[in-house]
Amino acid sequence: MDTIYLSQLKDFEGKEVLINGWIANFRSSGKIWFLELRDGSGFAQAVVNEAHAAPEAIAACVQLTLESSVKLSGVVAKHPKKEEYELKVTSLQLIQRAEEYPIGKKEHGPDFLLDNRHLWLRSSKQWAIQRVRNTIINATYEYLNRDGFIKIDSPILTPTSCEGTTELFQIDYFGEPAFLAQSGQLYIEAAIFAHGRVFDFGPVFRAEKSKTRRHLTEFWMMDAEAAFVEHEENLKIQENLITYIVHSVLEKNQFELKMLERNTTILERCHPPFYHLTHAEAVTKLRERGSDIGDMDDLGADDETLLTELYDKPIFVEKYPAAVKAFYMKRDPSDPTRVLNADLLAPEGYGEIIGGSQREDDYATLLARMQEQKLPIEPFQWYLDLRKFGSVPHSGFGYGLERIVTWICGLKHVRESIPFPRLINRLRP
Ligand code: 4AD
Ligand code: MG
Repeated sequence: MDTIYLSQLKDFEGKEVLINGWIANFRSSGKIWFLELRDGSGFAQAVVNEAHAAPEAIAACVQLTLESSVKLSGVVAKHPKKEEYELKVTSLQLIQRAEEYPIGKKEHGPDFLLDNRHLWLRSSKQWAIQRVRNTIINATYEYLNRDGFIKIDSPILTPTSCEGTTELFQIDYFGEPAFLAQSGQLYIEAAIFAHGRVFDFGPVFRAEKSKTRRHLTEFWMMDAEAAFVEHEENLKIQENLITYIVHSVLEKNQFELKMLERNTTILERCHPPFYHLTHAEAVTKLRERGSDIGDMDDLGADDETLLTELYDKPIFVEKYPAAVKAFYMKRDPSDPTRVLNADLLAPEGYGEIIGGSQREDDYATLLARMQEQKLPIEPFQWYLDLRKFGSVPHSGFGYGLERIVTWICGLKHVRESIPFPRLINRLRP
């Protein structure tokens, strides 16, 4: 008898198989037990009927509790009513009889669920979200590898900030201050001079003091960087990557998207070209919608929501005022108060999923920007050096994995998109 996973049931119709799993739910009507099984790969009903099960199986059923672990054998059959396969159980053995499970059918508040995140991860929607997340990660590697990018790992312990100093986590590094990385960008910029097109993918840290639906203090960022790529081409790479990711999820995770009750119409429409707005155009639109945003202000989270509610595809907002963006962004030659950057905003009110720009590649200009922003020069000297030895126009971007998962899954809050969220008021479990 083969030991198989529930995801393989359809290939074993009429055969007797062994399954290891957990009891997600159960009910009995007289002498028949209906078990809702899950085994990590999927879900299926198992029917324990005195007619075809061993007496020990019936005895084990009487002992069952939610989340008990079991080993069972059964014959695979088409479900009488649904388009699924089920198991007609022949034997069943309890591996561990679970204690009373704290997560039940009643509604639980978010704090309770987050306190029990180690258990909540098993719930069907939470299972579905992590499967989608896995597809997004794999699709990212696939797309970038095919497009000539190689993965280069950037450090997490750093002597300087990448995105500004207000949100840094500082640690004591043998008596010297060090910081947890906010983005690997500056390091992968160095790597383009060796490899041309590179990306990193890892956890980054921001001491976000705000409680919003979009901010984590630890999240996963993918930074990509490419030599000889200028602003317009940078946007094309992002557009194609996001399209590839969305369609990979649509192809591989229909079951999960249904479980999440995600309306996929807008996802299906996700094809290039995306919408393009300049920052100035976005400000005009936002004011029409009641925002009090100033001409040279950054878009706040509420502005992003307001703007992206209007669109059925992702939107690039380009050419922000230089004053609200990072020192490394290249100025727009046609308007030096602005930079050659773009934030990619997800539609349906989700907001920023990518931040990117062309980089300043001239030594003297970059030095002047850093001096204007009163950055210490010495710790960044290596970064400035890159502009001395074969400098080239180059661009890159960074995506927030959890923001993308949240949008694609249609979640209300980013905290469900990561297995163990870290928020301003949450470090446990
Ligand atoms: O826009 P950001 O700050 O860009 C950078 O860090 C650049 N150095 C990236 C680059 O050009 N290589 O962050 C990139 C993305 C954002 O668009 C957002 O999706 C996500 O990271 N992000 C967060 N996600 C969750 N929680 C937070 N606190 C986030 N802050 C940024
Ligand atoms: Mg940003």
